[in-house]
Amino acid sequence: MLRLLAGLLAAALAALLLDWYGQAGPQRLSQRRSFAREPAPGAEATNLFWVVQVSDIHISRFRDPKRVPDFEKFCSETIDIIQPVLVLVTGDLTDAKTKDKLGSEQIEVEWQTYQLILKRSRVMEKTKWIDIKGNHDSFNIPHLDSIQNYYRKYSAWHKDGSFHYVHRTPFGNYSFICVDATLSPELSSLATESHHSNQTIWFGHYPTSTIISPSSGVRMVMSSATAYLCGHLHTLGGLMPVLHSRHPQGTLELELGDWMENRKYRILAFDHDLLSFADLNFEEWPAVLITNPKSLLYSSSTHEPLVKILHSTHIRILVFSPSFITSVKVSIDGIHLGDARHVSGPLYVLKWNPQNYSEGLHHIDVTVQDAIGKSSTQGHTFAVNENLSLRFGFFSSLILLTDHYILTRVLFGLTVLVQITLLLIFRYLKKPTLREPPGLVMLTSFSLHVLSKTNIFYYSVLILSLYTALGPWFIGEVIDGQVGTCFSFGVIVGGHFLQGGLTFVVGISQMIFFNLPLMAYLCWCLLLRCQGHSFCSHILYSCYFLQRTYGTLAFFLSPMKTWLCDGVGNHSREEPEVGFFQG
Ligand SMILES: *[C@@H]1O[C@H](CO)[C@@H](O)[C@H](O)[C@H]1NC(C)=O
Ligand SMILES: *[C@@H]1O[C@H](CO)[C@@H](O)[C@H](O)[C@H]1NC(C)=O
Ligand SMILES: *[C@@H]1O[C@H](CO)[C@@H](O)[C@H](O)[C@H]1NC(C)=O
Ligand SMILES: *[C@@H]1O[C@H](CO)[C@@H](O)[C@H](O)[C@H]1NC(C)=O
Repeated sequence: MLRLLAGLLAAALAALLLDWYGQAGPQRLSQRRSFAREPAPGAEATNLFWVVQVSDIHISRFRDPKRVPDFEKFCSETIDIIQPVLVLVTGDLTDAKTKDKLGSEQIEVEWQTYQLILKRSRVMEKTKWIDIKGNHDSFNIPHLDSIQNYYRKYSAWHKDGSFHYVHRTPFGNYSFICVDATLSPELSSLATESHHSNQTIWFGHYPTSTIISPSSGVRMVMSSATAYLCGHLHTLGGLMPVLHSRHPQGTLELELGDWMENRKYRILAFDHDLLSFADLNFEEWPAVLITNPKSLLYSSSTHEPLVKILHSTHIRILVFSPSFITSVKVSIDGIHLGDARHVSGPLYVLKWNPQNYSEGLHHIDVTVQDAIGKSSTQGHTFAVNENLSLRFGFFSSLILLTDHYILTRVLFGLTVLVQITLLLIFRYLKKPTLREPPGLVMLTSFSLHVLSKTNIFYYSVLILSLYTALGPWFIGEVIDGQVGTCFSFGVIVGGHFLQGGLTFVVGISQMIFFNLPLMAYLCWCLLLRCQGHSFCSHILYSCYFLQRTYGTLAFFLSPMKTWLCDGVGNHSREEPEVGFFQG
């Protein structure tokens, strides 16, 4: 019976989840805007521009000596080959970690290295360079005006806060809006400002799932944007090499892997207001980006004039390489259509008849060969019929669309509630008599009765549980020179309250790895004692032993100290957002 109920519950939950994350695919037709068919993609190199994104560079004084020279090469050689109109650096410019990795502080020489690379490569003369702050660039800064806010001194952009940058061209205006970690009311006005632009891109360091905002707030505010670009998750240490999804409002959320370990960067193009992008590895040439027909998975009928694909006359491909390109072969559904010809810059085109593909899904593949024998093949599924759509993977949607701070709060609350409820119920329930032979359920309930009705155990477990929930856990120097108090629900430092994010995770592991096992162990000991075993008579000694064992275990499973230092303590006061995952 119980198993059936649990099964039903799990099924219902799964259905609910699939339904919610399934929205990461098709959009409601009613939301559609009507777009002009002209200008449609043709053979000329117009109505086209591209930008580059790079994230989580982590320039470090102590680790990976190749990181810095590689980044300098990126700023000089790679940028020279790609020639983007704009480069977005989405946070964590420096590592700001001490040599032992445990502490964190702003290290001026790392910032000087970053600035030196910008200056030596002259990248700021070649393109618009917009670099924003990540959590590592904010470690241990008591306030924004602090001398330790090296971002202001050494970065290219050096202005804190959200802003709106418009890229103006003869064929349209394109908005790039930066989301500072804190959700401020000014974001709505930036969003309104951008309504006159052809297309809008938002970008920031944090995925929206790790930004603390009133329910779906930040996603709603950016709903008119075609895409939100971010970093911070580092592909979850390689577990999720592609973290892309779509908000229920239709905006794409595109996390980019890190420069730090993986040397990732992204080229993102607007071709006749159709967005396409490629996530690439440093020094892997030739780089290929098919801009027409664009990938169906990343198409949004709400935001893009998809009708232009049907009225286009040419397949369009951007090819970047330091060597001469010898051939660009195009095939659709495995049938070779011909070689695309060079127009100018990186643009190659091939005449096609989109009417031939007006039904169903099709696959385009482009193989590029260069003079030194390197080749690269890129392909994707497309559709000319704008009524078709594809869904994103369940797991990337789960990671990018679940509000982590709500999830952790709910889980923490539930674990505390479960423990307290158990104690209260069994304290006031009538004790049953043990029947022979007692089953597992019977024994468990019996031991809970004994535990809850023995004052010393009842009150110690109850107080421990309440203390975990209400704190304070510790008082100490959270930021240099500023004493703070840490609770499960946040940190008070310098008279300001920072909402907790990571603190809830620590709370959950405290509950799961210490409080609940302790209760179970006490139950077990009491049971053995009642059954007349004597080796458990030294319960207090056992508890002490358990505390030692579990204390050590809990340290490894929830290294409170390092976590708190990374995620909570060192966030500057102006930045109450607390990253769930460490960047
Ligand atoms: C771009 O914006 C400017 C000023 O806001 C406006 O005058 C111009 O017409 C816009 N260009 C296009 C192509 O919409
Ligand atoms: C940008 O928007 C303007 C005004 O809506 C439009 O005339 C123009 O064709 C658009 N640009 C492109 C490349 O579609
Ligand atoms: C596409 O249509 C054109 C005429 O409209 C025809 O000549 C061509 O063979 C067709 N291609 C394919 C692959 O069906
Ligand atoms: C897409 O759907 C709309 C409304 O359902 C319909 O009017 C239109 O003809 C469809 N387009 C195509 C290319 O099938």
